[in-house]
Amino acid sequence: MWLYLLALVGLWNLLRLFRERKVVSHLQDKYVFITGCDSGFGNLLARQLDRRGMRVLAACLTEKGAEQLRSKTSDRLETVILDVTKTESIVAATQWVKERVGNRVMWLYLLALVGLWNLLRLFRERKMVSHLQDKYVFITGCDSGFGNLLARQLDRRGMRVLAACLTEKGAEQLRSKTSDRLETVILDVTKTESIVAATQWVKERVGNRGLWGLVNNAGISGHLGPNEWMNKQNIASVLDVNLLGVIEVTLSTVPLVRKARGRVVNVASIAGRLSFCGGGYCISKYGVEAFSDSLRRELSYFGVKVAIVEPGFFRTDVTNGVTLSSNFQMLWDQTSSEVREVYGENYLASYLKMLNGLDQRCNKDLSLVTDCMEHALTSCHPRTRYSAGWDAKFFYLPMSYLPTFLVDALFYWTSPKPEKAL
Ligand SMILES: NC(=O)c1ccc[n+]([C@@H]2O[C@H](COP(=O)([O-])OP(=O)(O)OC[C@H]3O[C@@H](n4cnc5c(N)ncnc54)[C@H](OP(=O)(O)O)[C@@H]3O)[C@@H](O)[C@H]2O)c1
Repeated sequence: MWLYLLALVGLWNLLRLFRERKVVSHLQDKYVFITGCDSGFGNLLARQLDRRGMRVLAACLTEKGAEQLRSKTSDRLETVILDVTKTESIVAATQWVKERVGNRVMWLYLLALVGLWNLLRLFRERKMVSHLQDKYVFITGCDSGFGNLLARQLDRRGMRVLAACLTEKGAEQLRSKTSDRLETVILDVTKTESIVAATQWVKERVGNRGLWGLVNNAGISGHLGPNEWMNKQNIASVLDVNLLGVIEVTLSTVPLVRKARGRVVNVASIAGRLSFCGGGYCISKYGVEAFSDSLRRELSYFGVKVAIVEPGFFRTDVTNGVTLSSNFQMLWDQTSSEVREVYGENYLASYLKMLNGLDQRCNKDLSLVTDCMEHALTSCHPRTRYSAGWDAKFFYLPMSYLPTFLVDALFYWTSPKPEKAL
C-alpha cells in the first residue's frame, strides 16, 4: 500500500512538473511591475526578467537604487520611484504604469478594429447581385487582352455580353469561343458615327431593361518617351482613344445605364496615379481618373455606381516590347539633331533595351484584372477603385502617396540619363 502511495505521489509530482514547465507565449509583449527593486530579490528578479526579454517596470524606493538597476539592465526596463506607505506615491506610480501598458492596449484595440473592418468589408463585398442572366454588359476593346478575357468570363457566368471589337476578325474570333448569347458589334471609339451606331445597336438589345454594365476598356499605349521628342499628334492620338473615347462612349450610353441603375467600369492604370513617362498615355489615364471621379459623384444620385480599375504591368499588346521600342525609335528619328545631341545614342540604347525586356517583367495572369472588373459588375457593393497586380498594390500605389521630391529622386536615380545631363 505504501508503495502504491509513493508511486501516486511521484506521478502527481511528475505531472505537476510537466504542467508547470509550460511557459506563456509572447513574453516580450508582457509587462511586469515589481516593487522594492533597489536591492535583494526585487533587484535580482527585475534583472532576471529583463534578461528573458519581458517588459519590466521596476519600482525603487530611491533614485540611487533605480539608477544602479538601470545601469545593469537593457533599455527595455523602466524605473519609477515608489514608497508603498504613501498613497500619493502609489497613485502616481499606478498612473505611470497605466501610461505604459495603456498604449499597447490602444494599439491592440486599433488592430482589432482594422481587422474587424476588413472582415466586414470582405463580407459586404461577397454579396452578389441577382438575376445575372438578365443583365446586359457592353465592353469596348474586346479583340484582345483584358476586354477579350472579360467578355468570355462574363459569358461563362451567364450574363448577356455585348462585345465591341475594333475589327471584324477580332469579333469573329471572340464569337467562335463563346456562347450564342454573346453578341458583337464593330466600334472605333475615336469615331463619333461609330459610337452613335453602336449605342443604337445596344439600345435595341437592352430595351426597357436598360444597360446594366458599361466597361470602358479600349486603349492603346501609343508613343512612350520624353515629352520633348513628341509632336502634338503623337499625344493627341492616344488621348483620342484612351480619354476622349472613354468620355464619348460614356456620354452616349449613360442614359441606358441610368435606366438599369447599373455600373460603369473605367479601365485606368497605375499610370493614372504616377506619371512615369512622357507621351499621351499617363495624361490619358490621369484624365480617366478625373472623369470617373466626377462621374461617380454625379451618378450616385441615380443609383449608378462607377468603379475605376488600376492595373499594374500585364502582358498584352499595350505592353508589347517590340511595338513600344519601334515607336520609341520612330520618335528618335523624328526629333531634331539638337535634341538627339542632348540625349545621345547611349540614352536611346538604354531605353530600347528596357522596352524590349518589358514583356518579360509583365504579369501573365490577366484574370487578376478581369476578376476586379467582374466584381465591379456583379457585387452588390463594388469598390470605387481596384488595384490589380502585386506591382500595383505593393509598389506603384504606395509610391504614389510618397512626397513628390522622393518620387522624383527615385526616378532620377533609376532612369537612363541624357548625355548632356548636368
Ligand atoms: N496591359 C497593361 O499592362 C495595362 C495596364 C494598365 C492599364 N491597361 C489598360 O487596359 C485596357 C485594355 O488594354 P490591354 O492591356 O488589354 O491591351 P490590348 O490587348 O491591346 O487591348 C486593347 C483593346 O482596345 C482595342 N482598341 C484599340 N484602339 C481602339 C479604338 N480606336 N476603338 C476601339 N477599340 C480599340 C484593341 O483592338 P485591337 O486589338 O484590334 O487593336 C484591343 O482590343 C487599356 O485601356 C489599357 O490602357 C493595360
